[in-house]
Amino acid sequence: MIIAQISDTHIFRDAPDADLRASDLERTIADINALEPAVDVLIHTGDMAHGGRCEDYALAASLLRQSHAPVYVAPGNRDDRENLRQAFSPWACRASGGEFLDYAIDEFPVRLMAVDTVSPGTNKGDFSEEHARRLIELIDAETTKPIVAFMHHPPYIVSVGPDPLNFVTFEAMARLQRTLQHSERVIAVLCGHVHRSTGGRIGEIPVMVVPCTATPLRKGDYPPQMRDRPVYHLHRFDPANGLCTEARIVGGAAADAEGRQRRSA
Ligand SMILES: [Fe+2]
Repeated sequence: MIIAQISDTHIFRDAPDADLRASDLERTIADINALEPAVDVLIHTGDMAHGGRCEDYALAASLLRQSHAPVYVAPGNRDDRENLRQAFSPWACRASGGEFLDYAIDEFPVRLMAVDTVSPGTNKGDFSEEHARRLIELIDAETTKPIVAFMHHPPYIVSVGPDPLNFVTFEAMARLQRTLQHSERVIAVLCGHVHRSTGGRIGEIPVMVVPCTATPLRKGDYPPQMRDRPVYHLHRFDPANGLCTEARIVGGAAADAEGRQRRSA
C-alpha cells in the first residue's frame, strides 16, 4: 500500500502569488499521478485554503479531483471546518455530523484515520477530553488493522521551528498521546503545519511532517534548483516491514518515466 501525502496548500485567490500556490498543487497531483506503481491514496494534512473561504475550497477541490487515487483531507488552523466539509464531503472527507472532522478509511490494509486538531481562534492544535472519548470510539470500531493517523499539528516538540509547542497546552498534547497509544495499533502519525521537513515521536509512535506544498510559503533551506519544485511524501506500507517514508520532488516522476523508457528502448 502506498500513501502519498501533501499539506498546507494555502489556496487563496486574493494572494499576490495565488496562481503559484494553485499551480504548485496541480503540478504535485500530476507528479503523483505519474508514479509507477500507482499510489493507493492521497492524503492532505490541512491548511487547504488560507482563509477558509468557499471559493478557495472550490478551486482546491477542482484540482484535487484530478488525482487518480482517492483523496482524504484533515483540517488545519487556516481551514474553516464547515466550508471544508461542504466542499469535500463525502468524497474526500467522511466525517459524519458533529464538531470534529475525525473519520476512518477502512478499505486498505492500513486503517487511515483523520484527526481534527483545530482550535478555532488560535493557530495551535487542541485535543479535549470530549474529543479523546470520541476518537477512542472511532479507534475501537475496528480492532484488527494497523492505523496511520493523519492530522495537521505535529504532536511533539518541533525544536527546529519558531514555536516548538504546536498545541495550546502540554496537557492537550499528552491527552492526544494517551489516546493514540490506547489501542497500540497506531504505527505512525503524519502531519503538516510547520511548513518544513521534520520528524519526531509521540510516545513510541513515529511522527513525520511533510513540507508545505505551496513553495512560496515553504520553510527551511532548499538549493536553487529545488526552490520552485514542491516536495511531497510517499509512505509505503507492507505488513513485514511497517511504514517506510520517502520524500519526492515534483518533476521526479516524469524523470523516472523517461529513464524507464530509455532502459526499455
Ligand atoms: Fe500552513
